[in-house]
Amino acid sequence: MQSKSLLKEIEKLQADVLILEGTPQTRNNIQNYIQDYCERFIQSLPSRDGFIASHNQAENFYNYPITDDGYPLDEIIRVFEQSVDQPGLNAASGRHLGYVPGGGVPTAAAGDYLAAITNKYAGVFFAGPGAVRIENQMIQLCAKAIGYTGNYGGNLASGGSIANLIAITAGRDAHGIMGRNYHKTVIYGSKHMHHCIDKSIRITGLKECVYRNIELDGNYKIDTNKLADQIEQDVKNGLSPFLVIASAGTTNCGVIDPLDRIADICDKHELWFHVDGAYGGLFCLLEEEKFKFKGIERADSVVIDPHKSLFLPYGLGIAIVKNVNHLLKSQFYEADYMQDAIENRNELSPAELSPELTKHFRGLRMWLPLQIHGLKPFKSALREKILLTKYFREALVAIPNIRIVNEPELTIFAYRYENNSFSKQRNNQINKKLTEEIHKEGKVFLSSTNIDDEICLRIAILSFRTHIYEIELALNEIKTKLESIIKMH
Ligand SMILES: Cc1ncc(COP(=O)(O)O)c(C=O)c1O
Repeated sequence: MQSKSLLKEIEKLQADVLILEGTPQTRNNIQNYIQDYCERFIQSLPSRDGFIASHNQAENFYNYPITDDGYPLDEIIRVFEQSVDQPGLNAASGRHLGYVPGGGVPTAAAGDYLAAITNKYAGVFFAGPGAVRIENQMIQLCAKAIGYTGNYGGNLASGGSIANLIAITAGRDAHGIMGRNYHKTVIYGSKHMHHCIDKSIRITGLKECVYRNIELDGNYKIDTNKLADQIEQDVKNGLSPFLVIASAGTTNCGVIDPLDRIADICDKHELWFHVDGAYGGLFCLLEEEKFKFKGIERADSVVIDPHKSLFLPYGLGIAIVKNVNHLLKSQFYEADYMQDAIENRNELSPAELSPELTKHFRGLRMWLPLQIHGLKPFKSALREKILLTKYFREALVAIPNIRIVNEPELTIFAYRYENNSFSKQRNNQINKKLTEEIHKEGKVFLSSTNIDDEICLRIAILSFRTHIYEIELALNEIKTKLESIIKMH
């Protein structure tokens, strides 16, 4: 009798749970509804603004708390459209020309969908041999592009920040640096390296090391003479130089540090050489651009972000370590409950090369677009961005009192309004106002930066949806806004 009522209760719960699976009909309805929304979204992109300043900051959400029974789909998507899709930066738009734009190729979304429905376990080879091979194949593609050969290995992380953290941790462990050595250990970087590296240094405990901010040369690249001198000085003073961090495409100016020369210095002193190529690294896919990156293949670790320069949706950055054993040493684990997996190791698994165990099957969002489209359109997009940057630079210098702060090397550079008869403060105010006015209007999104106490604007051309139309729009915005600001000043 008791087991009968128990069964009844179980059946009742089972009926509730079946809602999660849905039926072919309900699944189709939801997919079609979302698919229609996505299609309208993509088709609206060319005419949509790059930025919508939001005053209520999407507060509408609070009217929709999570309940026991949920809401109708059309209502949920309406809230999403108003409170998520509309306000703020339109990062999927070709008019996003600030920070470092991402992308969102639709076939990558199809990869995410496949990954979510099949839910293949991509952390461990034993559980998902095909999934792990896909992830390793994506690492091979990037490693080959930067010129790595031999026993390299890496990990598909969630983005550039985590990939940098993984690489710097590998460097720390490869050099056997323990807390007791930190006060004598020296790290070399520059003020134009991305701030996520400083976070990595803090998270790894390396903040207690001596940190040397190496001066930049006239092109905003690490001054290698200063670097070499500083290292010699530190050795003389009994310190232990350990790590040099360079950028293959800085966020501020888009320039590539002198990688080959830095590699020479690192070789001489047996230092770990880390290159943050989150923004620029994938330009190595272009044969004609490779010479700019000479020396990247000598780095001990490199970071590359396919969610930047391979135009994927946010959520994919790759750490590659030249000698995979260093990464393995840094991240390796063993656990009794994982013994089946460890005994069946044919290929290194993401779980052995990163802090994650269970993880999103990120490889699929990169693999599927590359399989469907091939590399050619991706390379064409990168080439198009380089030419658009040249075009933008040429048009910009024709605007009175615009100074190109650094010559573009890839697709990011800084520029500013600078009237020589105005004070530095007044010029700064004008550049600040120009950025604010562009944001207020929102037609395109440009961001600003501070270089040597001068407020500059930057352009970052990296969305696969940015074409000549968007560049003309940006130029027009800069010209018209500047004219009215100058009139008021
Ligand atoms: C050079 C560089 N490194 C690292 C990062 C951080 O990457 P993510 O935002 O993917 O964490 C960025 C982001 O713009 C970057 O430009």
